[in-house]
Amino acid sequence: MKDTARAVLHFTASLPFDKRLAFADIKGSIAHVEMLADRDIIDPHEAEQIISGLKEIREEVEQGRFPYDLDFEDIHMNIEKRLTEKIGPLGGKLHTGRSRNDQVALDTHLYMKEEIEVVGQALQQLQETILHLAERFEGVLIPGYTHLQRAQPVLLSHHLLAYFWMLQRDRGRLEGVLKCTDLMPLGAGALAGTGFDIDRLQVAEKLGFSGIYENSIDAVSDRDYVIEFLSFAAVLMMHLSRLCEELINWSSAEFGFIELDDAYTTGSSMMPQKKNPDLAELARGKTGRVYGSLFAILTVMKGLPLAYNKDMQEDKEGLFDTVDTLKSLLPLLAEMLDTITVNQSCLKEAVDDDYLCATDLADHLVKKGLSFRDAHHVVGSLIAYCRKEEKRLRELDPETRGRFHPALAEEISALLDPVKVVEARNSRGGTAPSAVREQLKLAWKELA
Ligand code: ARG
Repeated sequence: MKDTARAVLHFTASLPFDKRLAFADIKGSIAHVEMLADRDIIDPHEAEQIISGLKEIREEVEQGRFPYDLDFEDIHMNIEKRLTEKIGPLGGKLHTGRSRNDQVALDTHLYMKEEIEVVGQALQQLQETILHLAERFEGVLIPGYTHLQRAQPVLLSHHLLAYFWMLQRDRGRLEGVLKCTDLMPLGAGALAGTGFDIDRLQVAEKLGFSGIYENSIDAVSDRDYVIEFLSFAAVLMMHLSRLCEELINWSSAEFGFIELDDAYTTGSSMMPQKKNPDLAELARGKTGRVYGSLFAILTVMKGLPLAYNKDMQEDKEGLFDTVDTLKSLLPLLAEMLDTITVNQSCLKEAVDDDYLCATDLADHLVKKGLSFRDAHHVVGSLIAYCRKEEKRLRELDPETRGRFHPALAEEISALLDPVKVVEARNSRGGTAPSAVREQLKLAWKELA
């Protein structure tokens, strides 16, 4: 048989990106060798030599001295080759009862378990920042929107807390990802298991897994854990993107609700007055890239026969890229949020728009016996009249209001006061300060 062409070797190599699995690979190999010695599959003295060779290699990687060699396809072969350079042909015994197919699956599981922890903490940190913000802005009103049209006044805290709960669901999803990542694939061999008298449970326990794959073919064919992580990340990024979109809108001159700290914006090279929300925009933009990684792996997997196929090497770059994106983005977003300031006068002016209280007027008429549909119609005509006259509701005298319905001639100023209107929405989960305080309490409890 001829050798594989060098260009093909380089094209098919995963070393440039799977380098980052080096520590997981060494950790997995040490557990494997310990088990082999324990089961008398290899001699304990030989196992010791292999393990100390692996530990030296770990130091080389840590100190940036490891001689990566692209003529060897991936990190697994690089480490084995290096081991053989160090301890001679004995290094070849490391791979007893193992294939790179179960090895790479193990490494990816180990890597992901660590990163899930890190991402989960960063996510929790962001949630905590949101709760602090909600406390800091207690009592601040903003117009709430539907269809991006002013709808009803709400507490800014209430609006921000909506993101807390979105992220809370994301953390729940991440727990699910951890569950399906917490299975140990080693021992599957290439696909069929092995005739060596191995102890898979021992390896799982040493490496801190809660369980093992019960089917060797599934163990090496499965990439659900990668797909689930990327699905979690896609939904999370969608949430972050919406948050960023709102910050971008709110910090524009058109809204003027908030100001972002200079540290999280950039200037324009041409227009001196500009303060661009680049970080928020790029967070929104990175969402596309994370979706891309999810779709890439879904597409890679969809037509593959069992078990391992080289296509599956394509699982890594999108995964790593997404991990990097989340790990850098989440803390930055937390900092950016933590430093926003609100523009009280702009907000006051926006909330002063008493058309926002139209629902409350309609509710008032319902209490006087009208059906909600009729009330809606009456108040609709009243607002149309105000729009035509270019007047706020509170500028109309009782007699004019009474022409639309006698009950509107009554004293209704409380119904047109955004603070009172907000206070009145005290149903559970509503925007009244009392309800939001309850919500905050629950949120802190959920976070812990
Ligand atoms: N570099 C491969 C990957 O990342 C490792 C597994 C290779 N197995 C094989 N039989 N070629 O998927």
